[in-house]
Amino acid sequence: MEEVNKMYLNIFFTFHNAVFESYISENEINNAVSAVANKINEQYKEQDVVFIAVLNGSFMFCADLLKKINLKCEVSFVKMKSYEGTETTGKINELIGLSEDLRGKAVILVEDIVDTGNTLERLSEILISKGVKSAQIATLLYKPEAYKKKIPIDYVGIEIPNEFVLGYGLDYDGLGRNLSKIYKLKHH
Ligand code: IMP
Ligand code: MG
Repeated sequence: MEEVNKMYLNIFFTFHNAVFESYISENEINNAVSAVANKINEQYKEQDVVFIAVLNGSFMFCADLLKKINLKCEVSFVKMKSYEGTETTGKINELIGLSEDLRGKAVILVEDIVDTGNTLERLSEILISKGVKSAQIATLLYKPEAYKKKIPIDYVGIEIPNEFVLGYGLDYDGLGRNLSKIYKLKHH
């Protein structure tokens, strides 16, 4: 009985009265992270890289990704916010800026998810203004139906339809980031 309850709890979660159901397993996530890491390792052989993780959502993906990266690299963080609840606000605020000198550096932005692309667009403007040598984007999740920008997404872990998801760093109004699997909003 206890086992059944545990299983049940693992399939559905309720946050702020919204029900989320199991969607992407730890194993699928791990495979996607490895595939992205392998591509980056291959592409950047002999090159130094600065990874810039976009907080808060990408903390878990970034940690797992970097453990699989075998390049000489630095890691830094930028904190952005564009979401209130499950609706994008369209306004991107840079909450913690980048303090380091990125001039002439090869940069890879690490995102949990690319949705409309507003965050990425704002970030690439910031990187260009800092005179980086190159900028690429690695994201665990990508919603192609929601993406409205032209900037290429260089490394995609998993493409998903236009669903609201949480877990593995992604939140719903602050909750759910600690879950090791990814869940999606259940429609009634
Ligand atoms: P964009 O600027 O619309 O591309 O949104 C990017 C940011 O919005 C991501 O870094 C996430 O923090 C958040 N976001 C977008 N879609 C979701 C989702 O399905 N669940 C949780 N957060 C999301
Ligand atoms: Mg968020």
